[in-house]
Amino acid sequence: MARPRVLSGIQPTADSFHLGNYLGALRQWVTLQETHDAFYCVVDLHAITVPTEAAALRRRTRVAAAQLFAAGLDPERSTVFVQSHVREHTELAWVLNCLTGMGEAARMTQFKDKSAKFGESAASVGLFTYPILQAADILLYQANSVPVGADQKQHLELTRDLAQRFNHRYGDTFTLPAPHILKEVEKITDLQEPTAKMSKSSSSPAGILDVLEQPGPLRKKVMRAVTDTGSEVVFDEANKPGISNLLRIHSALTGTSIAELVARFDGQGYGTFKKEVAEAVVETFTPIRERTEKLLSDETELDRLLAIGAGRARDVAQRTMVQVRDRVGF
Ligand code: ADP
Ligand code: NA
Repeated sequence: MARPRVLSGIQPTADSFHLGNYLGALRQWVTLQETHDAFYCVVDLHAITVPTEAAALRRRTRVAAAQLFAAGLDPERSTVFVQSHVREHTELAWVLNCLTGMGEAARMTQFKDKSAKFGESAASVGLFTYPILQAADILLYQANSVPVGADQKQHLELTRDLAQRFNHRYGDTFTLPAPHILKEVEKITDLQEPTAKMSKSSSSPAGILDVLEQPGPLRKKVMRAVTDTGSEVVFDEANKPGISNLLRIHSALTGTSIAELVARFDGQGYGTFKKEVAEAVVETFTPIRERTEKLLSDETELDRLLAIGAGRARDVAQRTMVQVRDRVGF
């Protein structure tokens, strides 16, 4: 039996992925390739929904792709590609735009969150229709499942609604994708502001651990992570969000349960504990950084890998679009 197909995308919006991206996406994608026919996409078309400089976009797209391979995605098994290399994404997005109601699109809460920063009327129409492009990404590949965190559930619902609507109106064309609920790594929080999500839009770089960062700064950031004034290493989200976050990080990176860690660090104070967390981060990130640097220094190799991915993706996307065009009446 064929393996179920999974599709997931990530935006090239920073010069490095951070620990939240690594635990919440990259590492889980690597695991999924063992059991699934996996399609992973660097979604550069999504990145321009907010103003983006061309040189930065080009650089970040390559850095993002290199990190995916460096983190363990195997180009033999997974289809790793850049969204804009496959023109069918924009074509299907247009068709789906024409099937989406204004009210339906307006209910997407992520637009409200994302546009709040600059005001709804200054936001681009692209940011508004972002979930429809995302639906096209998924439906083009006839994905059976889509790894989603809580913030993406609404978008997947829209994708399913659009697939059903198209199938009903024009005849059976799209596979209905089911959510693949990601392992609860839960949220990794900001080291300086431990009740806020670690995010590239964090207010201070000291709060974020970047995959491509050198060991020195990584260690420094962990050692300077904000904690409470106590000294006990215990898991207590409400009263000790900083220590709880570091426990989650340690546990996720080493596979040691939080209960075991709490027992091990009993009576040892924060310093010893933080040192171990820092080492776990450095050990995880160093080989990924080194492989990323190697790939980025060899332009033709990265181009070759991305051309293989784009070729495989295009084969599937074009097959879908032949049907779509025929049914729509083009
Ligand atoms: P950011 O919040 O930095 O903008 P994105 O929203 O682009 O990151 O997220 C890309 C992927 O990384 C998503 O799959 C998301 O669930 C995951 N992710 C981002 N931040 C975290 C975090 N702090 N903890 C766990 N997963 C995260
Ligand atoms: Na985000």
